[in-house]
Amino acid sequence: MAIVSPSLLASDFANLQSEVEMINDSNADWFHVDVMDGSFVPNISFGLPAVKAVAKHAQKPLDVHLMIVDPDRYIQHFADAGAAYLTVHYEACNHLHRTLQAIKDAGMKAGVALNPHTPVSVLTHIIKDIDLVLIMSVNPGFGGQTFIKAAVEKVKELKNLINKNEANTIIEVDGGVNTQTGADLVAAGADALVAGSFVFKSDNPKQTIDDLKAL
Ligand code: DX5
Ligand code: ZN
Repeated sequence: MAIVSPSLLASDFANLQSEVEMINDSNADWFHVDVMDGSFVPNISFGLPAVKAVAKHAQKPLDVHLMIVDPDRYIQHFADAGAAYLTVHYEACNHLHRTLQAIKDAGMKAGVALNPHTPVSVLTHIIKDIDLVLIMSVNPGFGGQTFIKAAVEKVKELKNLINKNEANTIIEVDGGVNTQTGADLVAAGADALVAGSFVFKSDNPKQTIDDLKAL
């Protein structure tokens, strides 16, 4: 059974409370919350006040994906806002080891996201310190993009790295996930699937979540 983390980026922001409650009532495991700063990525999504508003109603862990430069500035703020998992981008951190330690010291699980062009091998010497690796299967910034197939190979490579190091790292994949791409990812070793458009734009989001969980 895959962990399913619906991405609120594709939800109806004007009805955020009912969208959160729909996920509460579903078999989804986490809430995926995409924070963008218009600098690390070309888009701006939402920030701390929106994360706090989601946390007020969410009955499942918040899986917060920071697409921001210099994320160290905001670690404590996201802990206070209710994040359970805090994922930073490898490409945005000069001192990744220190950043991960700060996330854990603030009481959260520490995640690292890899852009499509970033090889898994950059994590070789730090894998044991990472609770979750987020393999991006699109270029971050927007929902509804086409899945980049190379992500499947990256998941396999990451699985090998985790096994070799006897690490307990969760492999999560984000971007263009549906039941087809999701099946390939789970077969390759993915533990958790993020899905935005596929869930929220479907006729029956709860059923779609069940379909993803069954992969
Ligand atoms: C993209 C975000 C994703 C996005 C995925 O930058 O990180 O979480 O919401 O959207 P879909 O599932 O529509 O590709
Ligand atoms: Zn995301």
